[in-house]
Amino acid sequence: MTYSEILDQVKKMADQNESDILKKTCQLLYDELPHYNWVGFYFMNDKERMLEIGPYVGAETDHTRIPYGKGICGQVAESGDTFLVDDVERESNYLACSIETRSEIVVPIHRKGKLIGQIDIDSHVVRAFGPEDEGMLKDIGALLAPFCP
Ligand code: SME
Repeated sequence: MTYSEILDQVKKMADQNESDILKKTCQLLYDELPHYNWVGFYFMNDKERMLEIGPYVGAETDHTRIPYGKGICGQVAESGDTFLVDDVERESNYLACSIETRSEIVVPIHRKGKLIGQIDIDSHVVRAFGPEDEGMLKDIGALLAPFCP
């Protein structure tokens, strides 16, 4: 599937109010894109300044709660901007999910102007992600924001 076909598929699910749409979107990305080796959501808990894991597909992770500021995800919780990591070995503030992970992209999800969460993708290859991934993931985030907690 091309990126635009994936986007169409997510849009269709959103239009149909598909149940478990977040998990199904993780599965779709994971199945269709061989360089997407972990696909998941984190949601903001502003009271505790903690990210909480949502639906995901890929290896089980210890990082089910991540304090704002910690790791790539925690930095996105503070900046509200996409974080693209070409090589995780060059990042000092990084939380390893799997030793196989070599690159990562974290894209924020906003709802009505408020940062509510993020989509996190890990890859086993270096420099797996680029502007095309960021674009698609931002669009997916916009489509799925109404379905996020
Ligand atoms: N690598 C992330 C932690 C989450 S796992 O990749 C699922 C980080 O540094 O925030």
